[in-house]
Amino acid sequence: MGCVRFFIAYSLLYSIAKGDVFGKDQPIILVLLDIPPMLPVLDGVVMELQDCALPLLREVIPTDKVEVGFKDLDAAILVGSMPRKEGMERKDLLKANVAIFKTQGAALEKYAKKTVKVLVVGNPANTNCLIASKSAPSIPKENFSCLTRLDHNRARSQVAMRCGVPADAVKNVIIWGNHSSTQYPDVHHAMVKVNSNEVPAFDAVKDDSWLKGDFISTVQLRGAAVIKARKLSSAMSAAKAICDHMRDWWFGTLDGEFMSMGVYAGGNSYGIPEDLIYSFPVHIKNKSWTIHDGLPINDFSRAKMDATAAELVEERDTALSFLSQ
Ligand code: LMR
Repeated sequence: MGCVRFFIAYSLLYSIAKGDVFGKDQPIILVLLDIPPMLPVLDGVVMELQDCALPLLREVIPTDKVEVGFKDLDAAILVGSMPRKEGMERKDLLKANVAIFKTQGAALEKYAKKTVKVLVVGNPANTNCLIASKSAPSIPKENFSCLTRLDHNRARSQVAMRCGVPADAVKNVIIWGNHSSTQYPDVHHAMVKVNSNEVPAFDAVKDDSWLKGDFISTVQLRGAAVIKARKLSSAMSAAKAICDHMRDWWFGTLDGEFMSMGVYAGGNSYGIPEDLIYSFPVHIKNKSWTIHDGLPINDFSRAKMDATAAELVEERDTALSFLSQ
């Protein structure tokens, strides 16, 4: 689970244990993996989970051993990583995180079910996810994903607030690329329900310069803004996004809607280099995602999609050099 992102996990467990993610009739066994110094704290979390008296929660297993933590998993949410502190560049973290995600991938390979669905949250999430996937070669690449739903929710909410509508009146925003400040929040295909009519986001917002300027930078820099204000990373909103991501992976996306998810780029039709975990718009059915193809991409979007891809290529190449050391 990871002590450093403990607050995300702490915010997440209650929602999972009460059935918000895997369904109201799915019994849950929670396995909480952390580093040894955190075990006494985990005992407190176990007590609290017991004290919630949640009918679906059948067992809680706290552990510091990967052979226990990854055994027979159906879903793995990898929250822990070496954390970024205020002012620190995400790339600085790459080396330490390659070591962590190599170990976690190898443990998935050895102990988890081959059908396990893996969600990587710890930053740099896309590249950590790629390293975990490469370290678990017998688990399909399609079973690995990283979290960009938090960025997706941020984009949705910014547009909704601007239009004075509820968040669910905005659909089909897209986060392309890296969960970093180069990500591209794209509303060219988004629709907003205004007075029961669905209109393109650009028509609803009526402020192109905001949508092409401050909107994008607000979403790109939101994680850093939260860290600056809280002196801690996003926790509540990250936990909510994890639940949204996993619930959609289990139960599917709504007809006519896509969601953003960092997935393996192999075979994509948008000209993104193949061997990356890149955030795309996806549909999900029967627990399988497919990239939503065929969206027209203008020059403005193309440049931003390519810039975030270039950052990911660089991260990947650096990470792979650490992996082979
Ligand atoms: C966020 O988007 O809130 C976090 O990923 C920021 C961070 O680096 O922890």
